[in-house]
Amino acid sequence: MTGDTRAALLASLALQAEWGADEALLETPADHMAARVGGRDMPEAVPGATVLRPASIAPALPGTDPGAHPHTEPAGAAATLAALRDALAGFDQCALKRTATQLVFADGAEDARIMFIGEAPGAEEDRVGRPFVGPAGQLLDRMMASIGLDRGKVRIVNVVPWRPPGNRTPSETEIAQCLPFLHRHIALVRPAVVVLLGAVAVRALVGGKEGITRLRGKWREIEVPGLEGGLRALPTYHPAFLLRQPEAKRLAWADLLELRRECVESCIYGESDMLFTQVITKS
Ligand code: URA
Repeated sequence: MTGDTRAALLASLALQAEWGADEALLETPADHMAARVGGRDMPEAVPGATVLRPASIAPALPGTDPGAHPHTEPAGAAATLAALRDALAGFDQCALKRTATQLVFADGAEDARIMFIGEAPGAEEDRVGRPFVGPAGQLLDRMMASIGLDRGKVRIVNVVPWRPPGNRTPSETEIAQCLPFLHRHIALVRPAVVVLLGAVAVRALVGGKEGITRLRGKWREIEVPGLEGGLRALPTYHPAFLLRQPEAKRLAWADLLELRRECVESCIYGESDMLFTQVITKS
């Protein structure tokens, strides 16, 4: 193989990885362009693949209509977190499951008063099976520690529990498919407040089109099926964003102070349970 051919092949591989094709699904390559069904050019179905409904007919976020939503049943039937985990493990409707290594269910206390909700597992989480263990997770640990919190005091989950290939943003359909499980998770833990880490968590649980920059730092009341009354939610920047934009840590710090203030004022935790231990700008 010449140097030019090798360079061209590597460039093509890099492009595919950039587009998210970073997992091998089949032993042999499938030429989808060559497949013909009924005389028409049709992509060949991957064995075992589920045909997804287009996002346009997926339920509108963030509310779910229990009557119309096909995924509400297995989630809603779960009476415990263990049953919810089993229900998710047996849930085959979300295509992300087929490319992920494993389910990344949750971390932290099952009766936590504060729940942190991220977007989706990344490569490290996919390998280890726990949310927020990679670089963004290490920053999240430091952010929590800055106001005296740790994984033993909070619950940590993601909007989708499987890693999207190439770390792409989960689609509306994938979010809608997993949302009943997230709702059930929240209803079973019954936290006093939730912290929405980044735009995807906000989009899933608050809805609307407003960006995280406008929403961050302001408490919202969200509706969660199975929970009576509204639930207080604080949007803030995602730690992965803060790693890319360290100057935004100043605003994230203000949000953490607001979280601490609310927790102490509402007696979720005492002042002595939420001692300042380190500052997040210390990297
Ligand atoms: N980013 C997330 O949103 N969740 C994780 O678990 C890791 C990175």
